[in-house]
Order: sequence, then structure tokens, then C-alpha cells
Amino acid sequence: MSPLRDPLWYKDAVFYELHVKAFFDSNADGVGDFPGLTAKLDYLQWLGINCIWLLPFYPSPFKDDGYDISDYRNIHSGFGTVQDFRTFLDEAHRRDIRVIVDLIVNHTSDQHAWFQEARLSPLSPKRQYYVWSDTDQRYRKARIIFIDTEKSNWTWDPEAKAYYWHRFFSHQPDLNYDNPEVRQAMLDVMSYWLDLGLDGFRCDAVPYLFEREGTNCENLPETHAYLRELRHRIDDRYQGRILLAEANQWPSDVRAYFADGDEFHMAFHFPLMPRMYMAVRSEDRRPITDIFTHTPAIPDPCQWCLFLRNHDELTLEMCTSEERDYMYYAYAADPLMRRNIGIARRLAPLMENDRRKIELMNSLLFTLPGSPIIYYGDEIGMGDNVHLGDRNGVRTPMQWTSDRNAGFSKADPTQVYLPVITDPVFSYQATNVENQVQPPHSLLNWMRRLITIRKQSPLLGRGTIDFLRPRNEKVLVHLREFQGEAMLLVHNLAGSAQPVELDLRRFRGAVPIEQFGLTRFPQISDHPYQLSLSPYGYYWFRLSQLEDPRAQYGIEDTAI
Ligand code: NOJ
Repeated sequence: MSPLRDPLWYKDAVFYELHVKAFFDSNADGVGDFPGLTAKLDYLQWLGINCIWLLPFYPSPFKDDGYDISDYRNIHSGFGTVQDFRTFLDEAHRRDIRVIVDLIVNHTSDQHAWFQEARLSPLSPKRQYYVWSDTDQRYRKARIIFIDTEKSNWTWDPEAKAYYWHRFFSHQPDLNYDNPEVRQAMLDVMSYWLDLGLDGFRCDAVPYLFEREGTNCENLPETHAYLRELRHRIDDRYQGRILLAEANQWPSDVRAYFADGDEFHMAFHFPLMPRMYMAVRSEDRRPITDIFTHTPAIPDPCQWCLFLRNHDELTLEMCTSEERDYMYYAYAADPLMRRNIGIARRLAPLMENDRRKIELMNSLLFTLPGSPIIYYGDEIGMGDNVHLGDRNGVRTPMQWTSDRNAGFSKADPTQVYLPVITDPVFSYQATNVENQVQPPHSLLNWMRRLITIRKQSPLLGRGTIDFLRPRNEKVLVHLREFQGEAMLLVHNLAGSAQPVELDLRRFRGAVPIEQFGLTRFPQISDHPYQLSLSPYGYYWFRLSQLEDPRAQYGIEDTAI
């Protein structure tokens, strides 16, 4: 079946997250836009990604970078018109690139017409679109998520003369899902965008839709029931489109968002993410293997979405307090790097710009079970700016060239929505796409190769996983299998060379072929299989049955 027609396409896909604002500015006003993004689709096609996740582009006061929507059915005027959006979508599809966008179900901006009407009077038809109270003492078991800025989940509205409920910023009132009109309105919003041809949604903050006294107001059965209604709409009218859940929860709680395969197609694996960082910093595979022992199996058509970084802080919510302390110690020595419960830095600075560690982390991302998502700019090793407020330090313009504004915009630099990165190590003059397109060993070309190999290996998206437990705990070894094919993935988490001995008797007679160089390694026998790894080294072996026993080693194929 053509990959595009396969309803399980998301299992093989490589995702790429970007903000239209940050990608390319076509009209020199200092802000990226849809014509600009369309102009850069050739780059994304060249890179090889299959699906773009577009951050919110709707009209918004942008107090939460667009996660505060004031109109669900339009495009923020600075980003272009609905026609520009349609052109972008058509052009993406023409290149076999799918597009999913954020669906912000839990809350609106306080500037949304619904809220403006609701606050006017208790008799307003929109009053029941939000959650009101005379006291701020209800639902006290619900935690505060943005602890940096919010003191309570209730805010007094002097106009409404009542408190309204919000799980995030106080300018983001939560919608009232007990109201059938709200439930219907969100289904209609969904259909509106799907009718335009979108391929699905990353659904924001899904655990918090309903409130019930005496609970923590997360993951409630009512919430799941409604989310299944959204899924039902997809299955009914929009087959092949997907729903991806943002549920920052423990794996056992996230499992419920897959239900019986009839809720979400995909969900982010939040707890795995910080544990990849812990494993590399502590040179110990156990943070990774442990979290998988706590990760339940998911229904066959479902898929995890794996990520290293995104537009938010590197969240440490799914960590114990010891783990959190360790992460701050290891990766955020400077308090400026911390936001909420997390670390607002990009991948390359977190890895101290060590190419070996950047590759290792991406190699984990691409081989653990799930579909990988790349955060724009991480493919060239972009840096961050910890001095910018909120999470803006990881939201700076994409670095295309060494020209003014990193080639992102022809505007006056003071007009650009955020300053480009200029620090000596990560400056756009050195770190940019143009500088990395030609050199065959640039990070960008390595990422492109990684994506190619991944796409040639459906078992990485669809296969089972087994961890081998060699004695050397600095080495993570996992086996992926699918339809009779097997790959062996070996990662040295340490900054020093490491040996490892593997029991591969099950594959006796097979020849491991390393996938980056297509080099044949010694045939597997009954003896322990010995490998040595360079610091932060990794191998991706395809285990093939030997066809020509004389051509056992790569050297024999290549010797002159
Ligand atoms: C999750 C989004 O990723 C984040 O950026 C946003 O601030 C919150 N949801 C609230 O909408």
C-alpha cells in the first residue's frame, strides 16, 4: 500500500514541530508567515520529514504564544490569510508532507467572544461556556500547573462578579464541558479544520476537561468519554486523520487515553523524555529501562510519540523529587535556565554542543518504540537564550543563513519578534542551514541520513521491543522485531569507550549489518557476541541471515 494511503501512516512517520511565526518571514515585518513557511517546504521535503506539527496560528492576544485563542476559525492576521493557509496545506500535501495542528480544547483566551459575553451577565447565553463560582474554594485537590505565575486555579472577574476556573494562566478561562453546547462547539471547530484538509490534531492539555469535587480533576471518566466522541467524529467522517494527546501524566494514566484503540491514535511519552537525559548524564541505562517496565502495552493501532525537546520547558513533572534535583543539578546549574517545573533550554546546549551526545540522543529518539518528533532548529544544533522571559528562549527565529536576522527576515533587527541567537558558540553566523547543507558530515546531513534510515526500517515504527541486560550498565541494548525482521540497537551512554558482551544465540548464523555504513560485522555464533563502543557511540544493526559466508566482514567487501 502506498505509504500515503496507509491509515497507520503515523506509525512510520517522522514528525517535525514548528511555529509559523518562527520559520520564515516573507513580507519583512519581523514575523514568520504562511507564505514564508510554504517557501521553506522544499527544505522540509529535502530533510525527509513526513508530518509537520504546527503550533497555534489562530487569532490570539499571544499571552501564551497562541495557546490563548480568541477565534477558533481564523488565522492570526500577522501570519497570513486562510487562503495562504490553504496554499501551504496543498503544497505540503503535494510533497507528501502531512500537517497536524494544535486543537486547544481545554481553554480559550479571556478575549474570546464567548468569554466576553459570558462575563457580562449570569443570564448571558454564553455564561455556561465557562466554569464560575462564588468562592475560590472549590476543587481544591487540583494542582496548580503554572506555579511560576499562578497562585490559584480561580480568578475573580470584577465584571462577572464571580470567580472563573483556569488550569493554566489566569487569562485562559477553562471551557465548561458539562455544557453540551461547548461539547458540540469543539466538535464543530474540529470539523471546520478537517474539512480544509488537515491531517489531524495535537490536542492540548486533554486531562483537564472536566472538574469533579474531591478529585484532582485530571483524567476523569467524563473527560475520556468526551475525547472518545472527538475520535468518533474522526472515524465517522475523516478516516486517516489522527489525534495526538498532550497528557503530561505517568504512563499508566496516559495508557487510558488510548482506551480500546478508540480514543487517541498517539500520545506523547512524557516520562521517557527526561529519563533519556538522565541516562546520558549518569552513564546508566536504568532510567530508560525502568520507565519501560512501567509503560503498559498499548492497542495495536496506537503509537507513542517520542520527543527530546519542544516549545515548552523540558518538563520535569513526571519525575520524582530526587530525579528533579538531579536534572537541575545536571542541566540547569544557572537558575535562569529554570521555568515552572522544568528547564528552558534546547537540545544542543543541553548536550554542551557535543556532537557525539547530540547524535546519541537522536539515535535513542529514533529507535525506541514510537514515532519521533524533531523540534525545529534542533536538526542544525540551534542554541537558546535563557535571558528571554517565559519559554521564549527556545522559540527564537530559525537560522537559515549567516545574513542579517539569520536569513529569517529582511526586517530591521529590532522589529523581529524575538532576537536571533548571537552568543559566541551558537551564533546564527556559524549555526545555520546554509552552512550545513553541503558538508557531508554536518549535523544536518547526519539528521537527514538518520531520517532516511528510519524510513527504510518500518520495524522501528512498528516492531516489538526487548531490552537485553548485558553486565555493563553503561550500555543500552535493545532489539526491535517486526514480521520476521530484527534490528539490534546498541548505545554507549558513557563518555568513555565501553565493551559489551551480548547473548545473541537466538540469532545464531545471522550477520549484523551496521546501517549507517552498511558494514558487515562478524557472524553471530554460540559464543558471547563482543562489541566495543567509542564514547557515546551507537550501532544500528540489521540482523540478516548470511547469504555469502565468504563475505563475512565489511573489510572484505571494501578491500582493494
Ligand atoms: C500546553 C502547551 O504546550 C503550552 O505551551 C501551553 O502554555 C499550555 N498547554 C497551556 O495552553
